[in-house]
Amino acid sequence: MTTLRLTDLEKRFGGVVASEDVNMTVPAGRITGLIGPNGAGKTTIVNMITGMLPVTGGTIHVGDTDITHAPAHEICRAGLARTFQNIRLLGETSVIDNVLIGFHRHKSSSLLSALLGLPAAGRETRALRDRAMALLDRFDLARFADYPAGGLSYGHQRKVEMARAMAAAPDFILLDEPIAGMNDVESEGLAQIFRGFAEDGKGVLLIEHNVRFVARLCSHIYVLDGGRLISEGTPDHVLNDPGVIAAYLGDAHA
Ligand SMILES: Nc1ncnc2c1ncn2[C@@H]1O[C@H](COP(=O)(O)OP(=O)(O)OP(=O)(O)O)[C@@H](O)[C@H]1O
Ligand SMILES: [Mg+2]
Repeated sequence: MTTLRLTDLEKRFGGVVASEDVNMTVPAGRITGLIGPNGAGKTTIVNMITGMLPVTGGTIHVGDTDITHAPAHEICRAGLARTFQNIRLLGETSVIDNVLIGFHRHKSSSLLSALLGLPAAGRETRALRDRAMALLDRFDLARFADYPAGGLSYGHQRKVEMARAMAAAPDFILLDEPIAGMNDVESEGLAQIFRGFAEDGKGVLLIEHNVRFVARLCSHIYVLDGGRLISEGTPDHVLNDPGVIAAYLGDAHA
């Protein structure tokens, strides 16, 4: 089984050390948790994995492939997809077209014409639209397919982002605070979907402030503070670790 592996990963912004000595393994077929107080460096790690921020030390591998310094499109082709803490959708564009953009990993000649609304659409485009609709259905969004994405509620926009990420048929999906701003019913629906990703054999990295949500879904959790891993292990282990409790209390009283 493939794994996503971070070895001694480091990120410096000038004098600021945002990650240091980060060693993590995200196996296929599981949901791995990454938690830590505000500013701990969680998003920075996702930005490095996906090639959005240059790595200043250490390595990132998908299986045997070194992607540490690969450009973002190659990392996408290596099977990695993400969602953003701050939603990034084309607000004026329909929900289904936002999802269609996610198919770009599978270079399709007619995808561009589909997006441009050209009549040449044809069978391939219809097949892609069917697949996009199936994804929207999985996230219970099919009825919004033709709405402008920017008009949807925050929770629904997050789900459109996830559908777009899944359109690339990734082997690994990195979710940066996917349930932020969602109610309990919506979060529970997503928990089922994330379990489904893992059952389909995908590796999931789940970053969340809702520690109880992470603990329910993950068998292994990493805890970051000040750019360094301060604990890792089962939910029971990390949530009872005095160092983790102190880091969160420090955050609450900051
Ligand atoms: N582009 C940047 N330039 C300089 N410093 C940065 C940059 N991006 C992040 N940082 C710093 O790196 C540290 C880690 O930030 P990061 O966004 O990764 O934290 P986080 O754990 O995702 O926090 P949150 O829970 O609030 O989302 C912070 O001190 C932040 O100010
Ligand atoms: Mg963040």
